Amino acid sequence: MNNFKAVKIAENIYWVGVIDWSLRNFHGYETSRGSSYNAYLILDDKVTLIDTAKVDFADELLARISSVIEPEKIDLIISSHVEPDHSGALKKVAALAKNAEIITTNPNGLKGLTARYGDLKYKPVKAGDSISIGKRTLQFVPTPMLHWPDSMVTYCPEEKILFSNDAFGEHFATSMRFDDQNDLNIVLAEAKKYYANILMPFGKQAQTALSALGNLEIKMIATGHGVIWRKNISTIIDCYKKWSSGEVEDRAVIVFDSMWHSTEIIAKTITEAFAAKNIPAAYYDLKFTPLSDIVTDIFTSKYLIVGSPTINNQMMPTVAQFLNYIKGLRPVNHKGFAFGSYGWGGQSIALVEDELKAAGIEIILEKIRIANVPTFEQLEEITKNILEI
Ligand code: FEO
Repeated sequence: MNNFKAVKIAENIYWVGVIDWSLRNFHGYETSRGSSYNAYLILDDKVTLIDTAKVDFADELLARISSVIEPEKIDLIISSHVEPDHSGALKKVAALAKNAEIITTNPNGLKGLTARYGDLKYKPVKAGDSISIGKRTLQFVPTPMLHWPDSMVTYCPEEKILFSNDAFGEHFATSMRFDDQNDLNIVLAEAKKYYANILMPFGKQAQTALSALGNLEIKMIATGHGVIWRKNISTIIDCYKKWSSGEVEDRAVIVFDSMWHSTEIIAKTITEAFAAKNIPAAYYDLKFTPLSDIVTDIFTSKYLIVGSPTINNQMMPTVAQFLNYIKGLRPVNHKGFAFGSYGWGGQSIALVEDELKAAGIEIILEKIRIANVPTFEQLEEITKNILEI
């Protein structure tokens, strides 16, 4: 038995989501501050639930709903996104709300929900569709690839609330629901990390969605994860405009692994050489920093420099994993080069360079290959070459 309660966010509108305090891994994304799966309940002529939560948290979701109204009285369930962090408890809610229609996008939401949950009472919608639920209207705006093909947001013009699902959210567990009740620097840092790890490949789609939302008057953004924006709405929208534009800063990120410190010494030399050019540089040994933190730094930094020693004719597995992750995230407007040390074959450095090219990174310096231990003269040469970039 639990006594979870709903949180009122506007007249007759409640947050009824769940808080995943202990989450530390979201499909590979290291979530050091946990997350929340936000759902919303609107009490109107038609009682409407917007999204559910992971299936493991169905009891918490149902308890919060029950603190306001019996779940059996829900008439409409809006499924903004098929991904199971938002739809996982759908079947359990639908089993109680037997008459509820489930609104989803056509065709991708319909296909995805049917594949996962079978034949429920779906009502597919498309761009421009809206529905009256009594005093309020809900307008549906598909936002494909933010974050899956089925994704959509819902706007309520009478309340000026945008229910944005994945967009504008963060993996951030907090007891306080609104942006102005939390440390804004932490929230924005987590929002950037979320964008980098979840939405980076979809900048064009994000720009399209921002255009579609551009004419709406918004006084609250009720997200699917983290805080509800009510004070810093223009701040988070401006961040999304910047992040989706591919704009990069004069900043270098050096990422490497090392076996016996030689590649590490080269990494330090490169880091200091960029600093000497007055370009801030971040230094990440892959043994110690999660990929999700590193890519958060990379996606707004102009330079990406990657190093690996050679092991069994290959790059280090940590570096291969990192480059594989980067390729999938498809960063834009980055420049870089490869470096590394080796004992005899030294194949890793060319392999790193190939993967950088495959990830769309423009190569701006001949790869640095150092046998055994770098000499003072070799390090001086590296510094000189970087100063000349
Ligand atoms: Fe929060 Fe793409 O699910």
